[in-house]
Amino acid sequence: MKIELEQLRTQISDNNIPEHIAVIMDGNGRWAQKQGVKRIFGHQNAIEAVRSVTEGSAELGVKYLTLYAFSTENWDRPKYEVDGLMTLLVNTIKDELPTLQKNNIRLTSIGDITALPANAQRRLGEAIELTRTNTGMTLVLALNYSGKWDLANAMNNLIKKGKSYIEPSDIDEHLSTVGIPNPDLLIRTSGEMRISNFLLWQMAYTELYFTEVLWPDFRMKDLYEAVISYQKRERRFGKTSDQVKA
Ligand code: IPE
Ligand code: IPE
Ligand code: MG
Repeated sequence: MKIELEQLRTQISDNNIPEHIAVIMDGNGRWAQKQGVKRIFGHQNAIEAVRSVTEGSAELGVKYLTLYAFSTENWDRPKYEVDGLMTLLVNTIKDELPTLQKNNIRLTSIGDITALPANAQRRLGEAIELTRTNTGMTLVLALNYSGKWDLANAMNNLIKKGKSYIEPSDIDEHLSTVGIPNPDLLIRTSGEMRISNFLLWQMAYTELYFTEVLWPDFRMKDLYEAVISYQKRERRFGKTSDQVKA
């Protein structure tokens, strides 16, 4: 296992590490159901995957890692699951804070966190404040987030400022991701091939990577495989291949 990981690491070039990786962490429920246990166990077992990917990304030199943890649509799940996810969020932030500090990781969030339970908002606010001056990787938690919400919110802020004509750059500057570069690589686990209202505007030119691995099983080696796939691609941004190579 360790040898396999090291072997994969040698295939990654340090010159072309994605600056920003975004992840749709999917498949927790199916992971649990496959073993005949309740869905919430899948969410609990997802924490180890979060640790692996955070540690792996930081070591590779990724600057921003955005994790889609709770979408605006996820409120429509059964109440006990939503409650379970919120409790897990609070406990995880509390438990992981020392590791974030040790690894110099700055925590931040995107999404409308005012709708989260008060204790979740407090824990999150504390962790963001305590890690604010860390200079290593930035870990962005997407909580009560959706791309449509983000865009509508940006437009509303522009209207409030009295704007009557909007440029794409105006939108960039009013999204919740202001100051964060657009994702270079999106990873979605569990075999689903959709965006599910994630960073709609910001992913205009993101490389998409889909894997069958269920999120609770996702480890550093899976991250490495995604980065290896990313590095084999040619990002053309509308140009021809010859232009890009020149
Ligand atoms: C992702 O796993 C976690 C969240 C959306 C919070 P799911 O809970 O969506 O797992 P599946 O898709 O039902 O397997
Ligand atoms: C997307 O997963 C949201 C998060 C990972 C937080 P879902 O499991 O909610 O996505 P859909 O509804 O199946 O597309
Ligand atoms: Mg799902």
